[in-house]
Amino acid sequence: MVFTRLVGAVSLLTFALNAFAAPHAVQFTKRADTVKFEVDLTWEDVNPAGGATKKGILINGTSPGPALKLNLGDSVEFLVHNNMDEPTTIHFHGISQAKTPWSDGVPGLSQKAIQPGDSFLYQWEADEAGTYWYHAHYRSQIIDGCFGAIVIKNSKDAPRPWSFISNDTEVQKQLTAADDSLQPVFVSDYVDMTSAELHATEEKGNLDIACVDAILINGKGSRICKTQDEINALTSPRYANLLSSVPSGQLTGKGCLPPLPQTQGANFTFDVSAIPSSVYFDCTASEGNQTKIEVDASKGWAAITFIGSAGIELFKYTIDGHKFWVYAIDGQYVVPQLVDTVVLNNGDRQTVMIKLDQPAADYTIRVTNQGLNQIISGYATLSYKGAVSAAGQGDSLAIMDYAGTNKTLPLMFAPPKAVPFPPRNMSQTVDQTFIFTTKKMLNPYTWTLTGSETFNVTREDSTPLLFEQPSAIPEDQVIIRTQMPHPFHKHANKAYLIGQGVGDFPWSSIAEAQASGALPPTAINTKAAPLRDGFTSPPAEGNSTWIAVRYHVEAPGAFLFHCHVQTHMNGGMAFAILDGVDKWPEVPEVYLNGTGIASKLQKKGKTHPSS
Ligand SMILES: *[C@@H]1O[C@H](CO)[C@@H](O)[C@H](O)[C@H]1NC(C)=O
Ligand SMILES: *[C@@H]1O[C@H](CO)[C@@H](O)[C@H](O)[C@H]1NC(C)=O
Ligand SMILES: *[C@@H]1O[C@H](CO)[C@@H](O)[C@H](O)[C@H]1NC(C)=O
Ligand SMILES: *[C@@H]1O[C@H](CO)[C@@H](O)[C@H](O)[C@H]1NC(C)=O
Ligand SMILES: *[C@@H]1O[C@H](CO)[C@@H](O)[C@H](O)[C@H]1NC(C)=O
Ligand SMILES: *[C@@H]1O[C@H](CO)[C@@H](O)[C@H](O)[C@H]1NC(C)=O
Ligand SMILES: *[C@@H]1O[C@H](CO)[C@@H](O)[C@H](O)[C@H]1NC(C)=O
Ligand SMILES: *[C@@H]1O[C@H](CO)[C@@H](O)[C@H](O)[C@H]1NC(C)=O
Ligand SMILES: *[C@@H]1O[C@H](CO)[C@@H](O)[C@H](O)[C@H]1NC(C)=O
Repeated sequence: MVFTRLVGAVSLLTFALNAFAAPHAVQFTKRADTVKFEVDLTWEDVNPAGGATKKGILINGTSPGPALKLNLGDSVEFLVHNNMDEPTTIHFHGISQAKTPWSDGVPGLSQKAIQPGDSFLYQWEADEAGTYWYHAHYRSQIIDGCFGAIVIKNSKDAPRPWSFISNDTEVQKQLTAADDSLQPVFVSDYVDMTSAELHATEEKGNLDIACVDAILINGKGSRICKTQDEINALTSPRYANLLSSVPSGQLTGKGCLPPLPQTQGANFTFDVSAIPSSVYFDCTASEGNQTKIEVDASKGWAAITFIGSAGIELFKYTIDGHKFWVYAIDGQYVVPQLVDTVVLNNGDRQTVMIKLDQPAADYTIRVTNQGLNQIISGYATLSYKGAVSAAGQGDSLAIMDYAGTNKTLPLMFAPPKAVPFPPRNMSQTVDQTFIFTTKKMLNPYTWTLTGSETFNVTREDSTPLLFEQPSAIPEDQVIIRTQMPHPFHKHANKAYLIGQGVGDFPWSSIAEAQASGALPPTAINTKAAPLRDGFTSPPAEGNSTWIAVRYHVEAPGAFLFHCHVQTHMNGGMAFAILDGVDKWPEVPEVYLNGTGIASKLQKKGKTHPSS
């Protein structure tokens, strides 16, 4: 979940749990295989955007790490060796963990953090097809580059949403083939500091930092520096209000909005002069490599999943010369939409189908930051097999400029219309409703998601909540409890995004809000809503915003609900959910007292300095 970068606004989150949704049994058509996957995590010198190096986390020597490719129904044994000098865990983003809540990878909730030199064995089932990702879940280690893709191939006979694209059986075969060989593409931001250094810098300046050095696509990119004149020319009128508070009246040399009371919180004092001026101001250009995504026009179509792995920024992307169909979100098929551009929030997975009907050439994939915090872009190439020229490159086919401003009138993706395919029945009743208010707390980089308490990251080093009986866990603002009335409903803990809006949410339930007649009819949808594992509050400058999600408690365990902006999560924008306290899972001894590994592995003991 991501909240508006421009603060001042309080985001309100209504969150309802329901008990009567229909179960969605997973049908496995083949015998499950056990797939073993083993990774070494190390600190290394990295410079993915060229230029100066910093310390980054590599997974078997790369970032993004190797992709985990599975078939629906596979069992996974994912062995992690922590060869770093700090604790870590690995979370499997979007995986239901319906029967294995001890493999969810959240320190202090579902496991003890993996200590330096130790190993940990995660075991889980690939019970839903689609694109997911694995990433570190200790402090903000995503910012250090610790992530990789998970692609779970669907069963042959699964219904796919092709009839919205074409009823031609040959085309449908091509679409299925493209879906079965989709390519994951990570879109991330790059800062010239480790996540720990970034946090220390925030403390030093008493600042919430929202300015990065590069955008990386599959771990590659460049530090692009525009001249001040170019930046000024790219600065849209949307900035006028904010820039009137900036002495120079312009964005910084990195294209960033300098820290302002409007973004840091009116009641806090921050000190930009206490942090290096490279953080917001000085741009140092460097050239790295560019990711090339190869496609073969003879196959008719290609599928790509964009994965939002940013620590800070919020993106949108376009592909020169190509519209594309968004047909799966967060791993699940949706009713497809033909679009030019999509907003990619932190944690999102958006799978797009591209018709390869253009001349064989290279085409630019453009990613820009979508927030008002910074003007910045990153690039990759969609490269047709046998491309004879770079005819598709250059700016003539661009749909947006470096700042993300429209150059044409693009078809925009409409998230509320991306409802599940096949359709699902949503519960019309709820058993428990929780209402939370998000805002800054003690300082510009400390947040609450509950309204009054921050989720203290020191919990990551405490006894996992899952290892205790719920009755023994003290009442706490940042822990909520749900009951599990239908224990046979085993399924992913995804939730329906049933509503969102701008302004206050003064009601105590969704039903009350609907009955009030004060909201536009489209604000709440309890009939056919998107089913997601990520929810983004609507952007609003100087106003509150709210979102409402509803889910059916199906997998018992201790799960985190948190903002995926790494600096916000680290700043406490999170709470723990004890799902199904009446059906509390029994944690296997091998996890309770250790690492999921029956016989002790030899410690590698190889650690790397983190700075
Ligand atoms: C990672 O490296 C180890 C050896 O260091 C190897 O055994 C393992 O198979 C590699 N994992 C992957 C996913 O390639
Ligand atoms: C770019 O790719 C080349 C060839 O693989 C490699 O030698 C070089 O180190 C890469 N540059 C960066 C900045 O990663
Ligand atoms: C495919 O056929 C269905 C059923 O007749 C129809 O609703 C749909 O619009 C058709 N799709 C396309 C792309 O024409
Ligand atoms: C700022 O402080 C004032 C005075 O203490 C208080 O009334 C106001 O609610 C505070 N604003 C925020 C956003 O916390
Ligand atoms: C770009 O155009 C679309 C309509 O095609 C519009 O909805 C959107 O707000 C525009 N974006 C900007 C940044 O102007
Ligand atoms: C949804 O509910 C309707 C009416 O209760 C029922 O006929 C239909 O089979 C249900 N569909 C699914 C997918 O469960
Ligand atoms: C988190 O807990 C630690 C240890 O109990 C404490 O020192 C620190 O002040 C707490 N931080 C916040 C933001 O509450
Ligand atoms: C906030 O949004 C509400 C609902 O759209 C609107 O009535 C109100 O005027 C807005 N307030 C501000 C300060 O923009
Ligand atoms: C497991 O750990 C607990 C405390 O952490 C200890 O009391 C218990 O004896 C341990 N059991 C085994 C089998 O090691």
